[in-house]
Amino acid sequence: MTALRSSAWFDGDDEVALAHRVAVRMGGGEIEQGERRPIVAVIDTSSDANPCNLPLRELAEHVRRGVTDAGGTAMVMPAMSLGEDLMKPSAMLYRNLLSMEVEELLRANPIDGVVLLTNCDKTTPGALMGAISSDLPTIQIIGGNRPAPVFDGRELGTGTDLWREMDRYRSGEIDRTEWRRFEACYACGTGSCNTAGTASSMAMIVEALGFALPGASTVQAGQGPSRDVSYETGRRIVAMIDEGLTPSRILSEASLRNAARILQSVGGSTNAVIHLAAIAGRAGIVFGPEQVAAAGAGVPVIADVQPSGAGLMRELDRAGGVPSLVFELGDLIEPEPVTCTGKSLRASGRAPLAANESSAAIRTVSDPIVAGPAIRAVSGTLAPGSAVIKAAASDPRLWRHRGPALVFHGYDEMRERTQDLDLDVTADHVLVLSGCGPVGVPGMPEWGMIPIPKRLLQQGVTDMVRISDARMSGTSFGTVFLHVSPEGAVGGPIALVRDGDMISVDVEAGSIELEVSPEELDRRRGEWVPPVSAHLRGWPLLYQQHVEQADRGADLDFLTAPTAAHRRRVDP
Ligand code: FES
Ligand code: MG
Repeated sequence: MTALRSSAWFDGDDEVALAHRVAVRMGGGEIEQGERRPIVAVIDTSSDANPCNLPLRELAEHVRRGVTDAGGTAMVMPAMSLGEDLMKPSAMLYRNLLSMEVEELLRANPIDGVVLLTNCDKTTPGALMGAISSDLPTIQIIGGNRPAPVFDGRELGTGTDLWREMDRYRSGEIDRTEWRRFEACYACGTGSCNTAGTASSMAMIVEALGFALPGASTVQAGQGPSRDVSYETGRRIVAMIDEGLTPSRILSEASLRNAARILQSVGGSTNAVIHLAAIAGRAGIVFGPEQVAAAGAGVPVIADVQPSGAGLMRELDRAGGVPSLVFELGDLIEPEPVTCTGKSLRASGRAPLAANESSAAIRTVSDPIVAGPAIRAVSGTLAPGSAVIKAAASDPRLWRHRGPALVFHGYDEMRERTQDLDLDVTADHVLVLSGCGPVGVPGMPEWGMIPIPKRLLQQGVTDMVRISDARMSGTSFGTVFLHVSPEGAVGGPIALVRDGDMISVDVEAGSIELEVSPEELDRRRGEWVPPVSAHLRGWPLLYQQHVEQADRGADLDFLTAPTAAHRRRVDP
């Protein structure tokens, strides 16, 4: 066994070590001298304000059992919960704060290894980023997907079906009574969204990176397997401490490429592109939209799950989850990176469990749901950094398009004008939303899926080109270019677009161009007035002063590695 970090707190006969041992005993643990039990932090992000994470509350005790049985001492520690539904302007504003909380909890306390209990979109990357910065042995538990509600005999996918019903309601296809009836059905229990939105995308990425046991990332909330995997995870972290299996041994460019391929193979969330860049940044690795798109070369969408496919996460889990995706992707998964099991991701591969032919949740590379890559990067005069698009959930007829801009400068304006039946707009227009990037709002809310103007909805238009510096929900769809960087609030070209400017996009060529002369753009730049922030103090101010652009993961500049404070292991 390698020397325990926590020994710095407990070894010795002086009054300080004595007080430390007593504190642990008063908390329900036991500290012996000599052959000591490693201490495992069980970071619990459950909260009544975040129903997605509530299943974790029960799982923490199963982790504790596993840790104890394997010879460790578990300390359950609550950490802030980032609930996607309730937090305004966006839970994303707090992802980096959670990462700091986790890192500092680990730094300040006598911890030898950590189990992260997370579920909803931002808790999963946020907690992992903090643990990577600590470089203590780390393993993650996912709380699982919520059950599917049934509406008019049809199972609903979270998010994806809400957006569809919203369009039906706005177009007048369903009335207010129907809309209310939909609301009553939509509340279906705790757990994460049951589609391949951001939460499930990030869960599968965590497993593919090597930070969760094989099959653990697609468990269903509140069911037996989630308890079993929690117990096994508790046992495994104790062994990882013994083996010195730290994040710096698990996270590499190759493990990031493997994770990006799993994301591409499920047609997952565009938000995951930002989180992958931030996770990589904590280890000093550059892994932005270009790298995610490049890793996706030759990777088709093989998971039949919404929003890129038709099914729910439950079916993907039943078919074998990530180990079966790994199996089907074969040589597309690189063999080297080691995972929390001590073995490679490839070694976890197993053949999918066959459903009947017509409803296979995991298809083969030669017979995919959609040709890949699902998520692509573009750049050009409108987005000199980059922008991303989930091609798999958009209309290929719009991938190459040229049209006049119709610009919205904020959320309220966008909501109001898209409802206006007199809005001067055609299906050829390119809708642009600026000022909603990481600095702009702050926290880069999910406003990027600009609603199709009501006037066009009534004409039967279901998709059109939309461009913004915001994000969109992982469960959303449409020909939407997101995460334009640099964003409008820092003076990116998207801030300079005016109504009627011609914009051309070409997904296959990877381009996004604002057809305005450099001289005219310079002139507009000279007139451009930076927005004045409403935030004068506290976290939002600190965030706006230090957040990086989306293509760098929207992390805070002083949290990325290497910095003066960065070490391979947090020292007491
Ligand atoms: Fe929490 Fe989707 S809103 S997982
Ligand atoms: Mg979401």
